[in-house]
Amino acid sequence: MADLTTNCGGIVSPNPFWLASAPPANSGDQVMRAFDHGWGGAVWKTLGTPIQNVSSRFGGLHYKGTKAIGFNNIELITDRPIETNLKEIAEVKRRYPKHAVIVSLMVETRDEWQDLIKRSIDAGADGLELNFGCPHGMCERGMGSAVGQEPRINERITSWAVEFSTVPVLVKLTPNVSDIVPHGMAAQRGGAHGVSLINTIKSIIGVDIDRMVLEPRVRGLSTNGGYCGAAVKPIALHMTAGLARHPDFNIPISGIGGIASWRDAVEFLLLGASSVQVCTEVMLRGYRVVEDMIEGLSNYMDSHGMKTLDDIVGRAVPSYSEWGELDLNYETIARIDPETCIGCYDCVVACQDGAHQCIYPGDNGARVPRIDESECVGCNLCQIVCPVPGCIEMVEVENGYPPATWNQHVATGAALRPKKGAH
Ligand SMILES: Cc1cc2nc3c(=O)[nH]c(=O)nc-3n(C[C@H](O)[C@H](O)[C@H](O)COP(=O)(O)O)c2cc1C
Ligand code: SF4
Ligand code: SF4
Repeated sequence: MADLTTNCGGIVSPNPFWLASAPPANSGDQVMRAFDHGWGGAVWKTLGTPIQNVSSRFGGLHYKGTKAIGFNNIELITDRPIETNLKEIAEVKRRYPKHAVIVSLMVETRDEWQDLIKRSIDAGADGLELNFGCPHGMCERGMGSAVGQEPRINERITSWAVEFSTVPVLVKLTPNVSDIVPHGMAAQRGGAHGVSLINTIKSIIGVDIDRMVLEPRVRGLSTNGGYCGAAVKPIALHMTAGLARHPDFNIPISGIGGIASWRDAVEFLLLGASSVQVCTEVMLRGYRVVEDMIEGLSNYMDSHGMKTLDDIVGRAVPSYSEWGELDLNYETIARIDPETCIGCYDCVVACQDGAHQCIYPGDNGARVPRIDESECVGCNLCQIVCPVPGCIEMVEVENGYPPATWNQHVATGAALRPKKGAH
């Protein structure tokens, strides 16, 4: 059986699954229950200068019968006294010495950082996570994403923390930037042992159309919040891979954002994360979700002959290329399996209205649609809409053209071959 032992920037845990800093990691009792379910680590709900939260504070994006594919919050850092949190951290570490407890911090001045870092380490923290990511409430006070969006300040505060800390320091990055690389590099220059990403994305989750007020509502008002949950995974993957593939970036990544299953976790690991953190899925379905995640990851590694996490971390990174290096002559077409097709014609509508008008109703009223393969551009849309798994397959076509890229075309002026569907 695969060994799931994890080392992310020097923080060691029995497996790569950590609770993200958020309500599920708000108290000692919760974190201990989470560890009992199998979580390998927990990033404690961010400690800092006492704040008061508003009511209400969460919102969900519900889509065609599925609840909360996206989630939004206007919550701040912990609203419990620092002393209480530190006492509980010490108790958790005493009872669960092998699990990782990472303490998330967000304060303002150098003296405050020094003080809180020392107290967190005295309480038993295995690592620290600097919250440079919160996109609401704290950034207006010069903290959270206000730091994460400014590389010079990120680097300076990171270097303070590294100077004061005797345990590894992770910097949690905000996705509310156009390019994540300068921000990861700033953390690295500041001496961070790793980065965590992503925190939540600045957003408005929706509007109550009868009251004509944004959600979540606080008396008659609301504000922008932080978006997370399954819907943000593609953004988080993109940012994780962006850092992992950068030739000058060489510190570990803790991947966060929309992880709801073992498959999601595997994707983050393959794109360069050494550990993964989960918030929304636990808020929606409880600590128990980790049981499937551990089993799924373990089975996946066994089935691919992987013995340790080193065999998986970053394996898909080399497959990430610039668009200009993709082979313009590679060609696929859609093919329907007549045995499993249920004749719903969703693919016909999609191809006719949203793609390249090459799927037609079956001849003489036949159940199975007909694809004009000479016109199919291999865009995948029909496969995406088809409700039957595996019914439409994208098959490779041998067209006799050698590989050619856009970058070669620009560099040499070589002619591009005429493409299908370009009429
Ligand atoms: C209600 C709520 C509160 C959060 N509080 C914090 C926090 O105190 N500190 C922090 O670094 N991130 C906080 N986050 C962000 C999460 O740690 C995580 O980065 C984000 O939710 C993306 O992960 P997910 O898609 O698994 O939820 C919070 C998220 C939610 C939903
Ligand atoms: S792959 Fe695209 S172009 Fe080809 S049949 Fe499907 S929807 Fe149409
Ligand atoms: S969408 Fe799938 S099941 Fe429906 S008609 Fe097309 S191939 Fe058949």
